[in-house]
Amino acid sequence: MGAEELLRRYLEQRKEMGERELVLDDLTVEQVMEMIGARRKPGAPAAPGAPAASTPPSPAGSDWRAAIAAAGAAPGPTPAATPSATPAAARPPADAAPPTGGITVGGGERELFGGPVASANSLEEIAALVAACTKCILHKNAKNPVPGDGPAGARLMCVGEGPGASEDETGHPFVGQAGQLLTKILAAVDLKREDVYIANVVKHRPPGNRAPLPDEMQACLPYLARQVELVRPAVILALGLTAAQGLLDTKESLGKLRGREHRYHGIPVIVTYHPAALLRNPAW
Ligand code: URA
Repeated sequence: MGAEELLRRYLEQRKEMGERELVLDDLTVEQVMEMIGARRKPGAPAAPGAPAASTPPSPAGSDWRAAIAAAGAAPGPTPAATPSATPAAARPPADAAPPTGGITVGGGERELFGGPVASANSLEEIAALVAACTKCILHKNAKNPVPGDGPAGARLMCVGEGPGASEDETGHPFVGQAGQLLTKILAAVDLKREDVYIANVVKHRPPGNRAPLPDEMQACLPYLARQVELVRPAVILALGLTAAQGLLDTKESLGKLRGREHRYHGIPVIVTYHPAALLRNPAW
């Protein structure tokens, strides 16, 4: 496969991740131009590690990561680089700024929202409030509420977008194909799914698996906030663009949000791909 085709595929993948701007993971313009076979200015040195402009397609074949690495740039953390939970003693103070210039939402204070949700004293109480919730239209078509699963003392909290068909049927988050992959990803970093708290930004299934709308996310966020407050995990892992944007109250792209440490009311937040996107793009 030629370099142009590789670059086209790479850009399509970035677009699918919700990126509208081109941020090429530390690649220099020279490197990209060399990758697509554009001629260097006479006398300009080749970028370190980049194939010469006339080089035939690399034997690295169709793997875009290998192609980018061959061009001398790291394509950013791989999905396998998701964090293991930080030991409590090593956790940064709740009000410390994120070390990697990430987004900070809220301070380290405990009360995130007012009202009955804020006074729920257990995850079970939150589940009951979710089950009775009519704050947005999502409850109308949903078969079951999907408040979240996991122990109150979990040190890692995974946050997805919203329930799909399998989750709607069962009332449990991440039990479909994407959920099975999430279980494997957790196992790859020695975490049992039962030890992790798993929830979504919205607690009822959006019809036809569409992304939740901003007002639906706003209506539902107090439940997640209180879950975070009660579980008080060491790390939150936001799975995919919608979860990350909802949690971090931002419109930044997934490409920009990955690889930085953010803070949600003092708790470190790491953003990674949604497992469903990984199923569609195994090379990620
Ligand atoms: N996708 C999500 O974002 N959440 C689920 O619970 C299942 C699939």
